[in-house]
Order: sequence, then structure tokens, then C-alpha cells
Amino acid sequence: MDLTEKILKLKKEKKAVILAHNYQRSEIQDIADYIGDSIELSRKAVEEKDAEMIVFSAVDFMAESAAILNPDKKVLLPCLGARCPMAQMLTVDEIKRAKVQYPDAPVVLYVNTLASCKAHCDVCCTSANAVEVIKSIDAETILFGPDRNLAEYVSEKTGKTLIPIPENGFCPTHLLFQPEDIAVLKMQHPNATVIIHPECSAEMRQVADFIGSTSKMCRYAKESSATEFIVGTEEGILHRLRKENPEKHFNLAYEGAICPNMKLTTLDRLYVALKEEKHVVKIPEGVAKKARGSLERMFQV
Ligand code: 13P
Ligand code: SF4
Repeated sequence: MDLTEKILKLKKEKKAVILAHNYQRSEIQDIADYIGDSIELSRKAVEEKDAEMIVFSAVDFMAESAAILNPDKKVLLPCLGARCPMAQMLTVDEIKRAKVQYPDAPVVLYVNTLASCKAHCDVCCTSANAVEVIKSIDAETILFGPDRNLAEYVSEKTGKTLIPIPENGFCPTHLLFQPEDIAVLKMQHPNATVIIHPECSAEMRQVADFIGSTSKMCRYAKESSATEFIVGTEEGILHRLRKENPEKHFNLAYEGAICPNMKLTTLDRLYVALKEEKHVVKIPEGVAKKARGSLERMFQV
């Protein structure tokens, strides 16, 4: 049996479901039961009523959300080191300090945060629903973290004042995209449509034709009549884009745009994780209860 067959056999025996983010390695995407953006995967984790185990091939905060929403299931993060650096940029102390400074401002946190922080916010959001979540809040000034670029984008879309916490939270991978590269790529592919993730900078937003979550980018590419695209997000998404649109062409906006944390999950590690049932994501119930409230309020929106 090859590794893929072994994983599939184990998966069946253990009644496990494999969820993979759009940035995962191609071979992981190919073996997964579902591929998606962070909100789709959170939903899937809840919908899979018969699964006894969820193997979350992504980074820490996504597996944490699945564990928070599914206290009765075993949620595994195959590689413990797969931690989103942006999620590490916000601390509970920082939220508390901001609340003292802006006592009337509600706190909205991007899901790219640790569970302990989610326990201290009013509602969570993802890049797919951030605009709707902010619109739904009855306040004009809102504390928002940790991604400053997403805060600025949502502020532009809603007209509301979003105060970033921390002041300069960012994704190191999306920071790599530069408008100069788009200008060069546009010379080579004049008819290409530029699609980017809202974690990109304001300068990148200026040159984009479409801005959306990873799955929204996939949907846009599928439904668009354009046949050529310049893609401003992590390179793993190219596998799905090319698989779903074999007749279209996709050019990464910067060749080095790789999230090393997303790539830590390999087939070997996935196999060991399933076999040894590790690493189980555990959130203290007090934290999980409050964080669950913030995630559920997001689902209501
Ligand atoms: P999506 O929810 O759009 O998949 O984004 C998650 C992420 O980490 C982007 O860098
Ligand atoms: Fe975190 Fe950026 Fe990697 Fe997304 S791409 S998981 S935000 S470091």
C-alpha cells in the first residue's frame, strides 16, 4: 500500500474527516474530504455529524476554531509547528488595553487569532464575511484586529472607523506582494484579471480587479469570463484554481509567496497524525465557551 492508500484506510477505520485549507500542498488537497477557506472549513467541521475525528490540515487558529465549535469531537492538527504568525501578533493584554482606551467600541476579531483572544471579543469574522459583520454592528467606531490591511479594506467598504489592534498586525506572506510586480506581469499578460486577498496592502488593493477570501477568489475565477489571471495570495491556491479551470491561465503575483506554516503538513505527517491520533487540540472549557459565543455570533450574521 502506498502512503495515500494507508491514509485513506486509517481515515475510514477511525471515522475521520480530513479538512484542508486552500493553501495546503497539492497532495494534501487531493487526499482531503473538503478544501476551503477558513469559514467554509469551520462550517464543515460542524456539519460532519458522523465524524468522530477531524484532521485539520491548516494552521493552529483554524484547528482551534474547529475544536471550539466541536467539543465532542477529537480535532487533530497534524503538525504542531503550523502556527499562523499573524495570529500570534495579538495578545489578550493588548485587547484589554484597547478596551480601556475605547470603552464604548465593540471588539471584532479576525478568526486569525488565538482562542484566548476570541474569548475577549464581541464577534469574530473571516475575510469572507468581515464587511457584513462590521455592517451588522450598531457602532461607528470598532476595535479590529489583528490584520491592519483587512481593517483598512473593511473601513473603505463600510465607511466605519476601525481601530487596528495591534497597530500594525500583518501577514508576512501577503506583505510580499508588490504593485510593481503586477505592473510587469500586466505588460506580459495585458488581458489578465488581478485577483487578490484582503490581507494584501493598500497599494495592492489599488491595482486589483477583485478582492476576496481564498474561496471567493476561486469562485470568481470560475464564474468570470476572463481566461487569464494574476493571483495575489499564497501559492497553494494555484492547485485548486488550475484543477477547477483547466482551460484558464493563472500567474502568481509573486513567485515566493509561500506560507511556510501552511506547508508544514506533509503526507508523512498526516499519516502519523492519524495513526497516533495527534496532536489533539485542547482549549480550556472556560476560554472555549466564550470563544464559541464570538464564533456563533459570526455565523448568525
Ligand atoms: P481565507 O479565510 O480567505 O482562506 O484566509 C485565511 C488566511 O489565513 C489567509 O492568509
Ligand atoms: Fe497566517 Fe498569512 Fe499564513 Fe494565512 S498566509 S496562515 S495569515 S501567515
